[in-house]
Amino acid sequence: MKSYDKLFIGGRWVAPAKNGCFETIDPCSEEVIAQVAAATAEDVDLAVAAARHAFDEGPWPRMSGVQRGAVLRRIGKGIRARLDELAKLEVRDNGKPLPEALWDLGDAAGCFEYYAGLAERLDAHTETPVALSDDRFSSIARKEPVGVAGAIIPWNFPMLMAAWKVAPALAAGCTMVLKPSELTPLTALELADIAAAAELPAGVLNVITGLGPDAGAPLSEHPGIDKLAFTGSVPTGSRIMQAAARDIKNVSLELGGKSPFIVFDDSDIDAAVEWIMFGIFWNQGEVCSATSRVLVQRGIYDRLVTRLEEETRKITIGNGLDEGVLLGPLVSRGQYDKVRAAVARGREEGARLVTGGERPAHLDRGYFMTPVVFADVPEQSWIWQEEVFGPVVCIRPFEDEAEAVRSANDSRFGLAAAVMSRDMARCERVARRLRAGIVWINCSQPTFTEAPWGGYKQSGIGRELGEWGLNNYLEVKQITRYESDKPWAWYMKSR
Ligand code: NAI
Ligand code: MG
Repeated sequence: MKSYDKLFIGGRWVAPAKNGCFETIDPCSEEVIAQVAAATAEDVDLAVAAARHAFDEGPWPRMSGVQRGAVLRRIGKGIRARLDELAKLEVRDNGKPLPEALWDLGDAAGCFEYYAGLAERLDAHTETPVALSDDRFSSIARKEPVGVAGAIIPWNFPMLMAAWKVAPALAAGCTMVLKPSELTPLTALELADIAAAAELPAGVLNVITGLGPDAGAPLSEHPGIDKLAFTGSVPTGSRIMQAAARDIKNVSLELGGKSPFIVFDDSDIDAAVEWIMFGIFWNQGEVCSATSRVLVQRGIYDRLVTRLEEETRKITIGNGLDEGVLLGPLVSRGQYDKVRAAVARGREEGARLVTGGERPAHLDRGYFMTPVVFADVPEQSWIWQEEVFGPVVCIRPFEDEAEAVRSANDSRFGLAAAVMSRDMARCERVARRLRAGIVWINCSQPTFTEAPWGGYKQSGIGRELGEWGLNNYLEVKQITRYESDKPWAWYMKSR
């Protein structure tokens, strides 16, 4: 394994100030795969200074969108050129099955290409006239990059989460400091190399690896940062928002969820089972938008739970690099313990464990757990209300549409929701009543770079992806001009 003991600051690989390292682990073998540079506050200072200098003095914010777009396209191409190698690295660091890692990496490249297009279009839309009620004045609204962005990202989709923040920030003309999760830091460091090879000017993208309290906290508190973009847990999101409050930093947060999936009894049971499984077992259920709370109408409840059990038991678990594997290990020992504790708690609370929650018989190491189906889950239980972030689905029956909508909305989260029925009018009606930022009809989880992504309630603030993602990194300036030949003459009345 190559070495990952340096930070990428100001266009160069530099040793961390304290020369510290932390280990990143392959969750399948439980072996250390690399020693990774551990940034501390001093490194954060250097990285922010490099980004600040690149923003204030460098070419990047002053280039045309077309010029920035060309660099973004080269980054996309650079990812595609190394797709297999990067996907395998992601599997080793995170555990996910290789086909899913390939999918993530392709989407990450696609994200850079998409924002290349928006950067190119920005040139024609940077300044737009504003119609005023007083024709002595004229005004325009002008989009400008927000400045230096600090991006802190999680471990579930390491490269893709980096792309969701880096691509729009760069398209907007921002410079940035990116801190990946200490559990999966490797592909972000590779992204730094790819960006440099794509001729991104020095200091525009700085990548610092390190622990949350040692590197993430000083980044979120740094006065040189204009904007913070975070994806991760609610408690950390709250801490970041508090840090941002002191200097009134612009913040966007994409946090957790406990997203509902409503299945009406006119649905095709096999189609429902397929989407329910994709909604919660994809990426080991370590997905912020996972539809982990399933509401099934009484008429098909028993049959659906039985079919779901049969299919869940067939899921192939193992090393993400092995052919045919659909479920890899959980990301870390900590996450494994957390999910196991959640399953135990669900049983204590009276949820019926239909299947799963065990170590697969053929795997004696690695953070593996058989996928879990809980039925008849009490509505006020912890397991029904709180995010597990693992392959654990909770199911409850409902009688009618009003009950389904009420129960689905009974949550402090509001990231995603799904509804399934053959009655399209009903699906459309329910979709409009669900308090969530993303609603899927007759499916769960498909994600498109073009469409807005983000949560209601405690699931976050702001929207990523699409044009909304670009606006996240833009300020809007009003420039207003006095057009009249007549003197204003308020104080100095014309005599
Ligand atoms: P976390 O939210 O603590 O970590 C996410 C990122 O924040 C990492 O880069 C981490 O280094 C950084 N961070 C941690 N403490 C920080 C601080 N004080 N200041 C600034 N940055 C800090 O998530 P963690 O600990 O990896 O996972 C805990 C739980 O969070 C999971 O079990 C899961 O429930 C949830 N989670 C949700 C995600 C989502 O996409 N919504 C993603 C990852 C985790
Ligand atoms: Mg790892």
